[in-house]
Amino acid sequence: MADDGHPRGRLAGRLIGLGVTGSIAAYKAVDLVRRLQDQGADVVVLLTPSAARFVGPLTFAAISRHPVEGDVLALLPDGRIGHIVIADSVDALVVAPATAHWLGAMANGLSGDSVTAACLATTAPVVVAPAMDGDMYAHPATQANVRRLRDDFGYALVEPESGPLASGQQGIGRLAESGRIVDAVVAALAGRPIREPRSERRPPTVAPVRDPDLAGRRIVITGGGTREPIDTVRFIGNRSSGKMAVALAEAALDRGAAVTLVAANTTVSLPDGATIRQVETTGQLRAAVLEALTGPGDEAGPDALIMAAAVADFTPTRPSAGKLTRGERVILELSPTPDILAEAARIARGLDAAGEPTRQALRPVPVLVGFAAEAGSLDRAPGKLVRKQVDLIVGNDITAPGSGFGTDTNRVVIFDASGGQEALPLLAKREVADRILDRVARLLGERDATDVDGDAATRQTVGPTHEGQP
Ligand code: CTP
Repeated sequence: MADDGHPRGRLAGRLIGLGVTGSIAAYKAVDLVRRLQDQGADVVVLLTPSAARFVGPLTFAAISRHPVEGDVLALLPDGRIGHIVIADSVDALVVAPATAHWLGAMANGLSGDSVTAACLATTAPVVVAPAMDGDMYAHPATQANVRRLRDDFGYALVEPESGPLASGQQGIGRLAESGRIVDAVVAALAGRPIREPRSERRPPTVAPVRDPDLAGRRIVITGGGTREPIDTVRFIGNRSSGKMAVALAEAALDRGAAVTLVAANTTVSLPDGATIRQVETTGQLRAAVLEALTGPGDEAGPDALIMAAAVADFTPTRPSAGKLTRGERVILELSPTPDILAEAARIARGLDAAGEPTRQALRPVPVLVGFAAEAGSLDRAPGKLVRKQVDLIVGNDITAPGSGFGTDTNRVVIFDASGGQEALPLLAKREVADRILDRVARLLGERDATDVDGDAATRQTVGPTHEGQP
């Protein structure tokens, strides 16, 4: 990964499946994972049962950041068949080291382990690097199997090297150096487009284990895009998928927070562990946020509000009660929607619509985070922070490659109330979520340190203001 977050190298953006079989050279596959990653590849590892006796799956999972595919009969947690997901999404499969036994199984199409099963199921190029005792490699059976893989199946063979073998003998059988295997993968992929760029079609990733630094905190997150009715069947909407909000919710849950996700219209599944408030329009989103902010009944309000929702800026002034029919000329009059985040900030600080301190502030004041989705420059983002009176504004240029609506990645700049800016590289939305939550956790820590009376039981809450639509 380069400093700016763009993967660079001869395998940038590629997904490579590395099949490891039961040779003493299996330990060299750990280095091979790293060398492939150095070239920008995402690597997922498949192990045969005997390979797992040489190097454990935990090692490969930790360095590849993917669960290891080690049991041909086991399903992924989401019910998909692991070796088929790998077969269908990898740009190339590499088998290194490939034992004499595995070459024989593969030559005969015996899919008793995940590595052979994935090779049988894939249409991607396959690169095979054998490693074994010299006499085993020279045996006519092994040579016939190698020929079959190369000549009949079209696999690229990376011949073993000569040198001292595990038996103490000299001979041809040492696993080729990682660099030669990487070169063979690059050559096999020349001119081919990236096969499966959609992360949801690729194998699952291993989430990094985080400290539960948000345990005991309540966080309200909004996400998705609001829809404003034109008539009973039509609406004005936007392209928000809700992916950023779901990433924030999942990250906050993993860090121990209690999460309420106010979900406007989304295209992704919502996390099980969160309390979900499903909404459609800006008016409903506003009502749900204000209710969550002031806490139902005697309960205290949240420690943080993160407004990741793409809120409609305008709503039809007089939506039609029925279905508008074609043939009529329709002029749509739009009215501005209330600024929910600014209103939430005023309530939190005890200010009225004119900004006057006329009522009790929430105690303690929740950390408030907004997003500023801009097309092009982020110059307007700091102004939104001041105007909305929030702690952080996460600015992103929705026109930049890999950023914005529907993508799995985002490149953001975090603006804070003391004028600071933190520009993050292009990251997975989950990683962006954790970076935002790092800032939220820090602000909560600072708030706790200064708010000596900040006992949740003594919090005061106030009702919503009456501006804007209900
Ligand atoms: N937001 C809100 N209520 C609205 C519009 C936006 O709470 N009616 C929130 C968004 O969820 C986001 C932040 O305010 O967290 C900034 O949204 P953005 O659309 O970028 O800013 P606007 O206030 O709409 O300003 P402009 O239209 O000038 O870009």
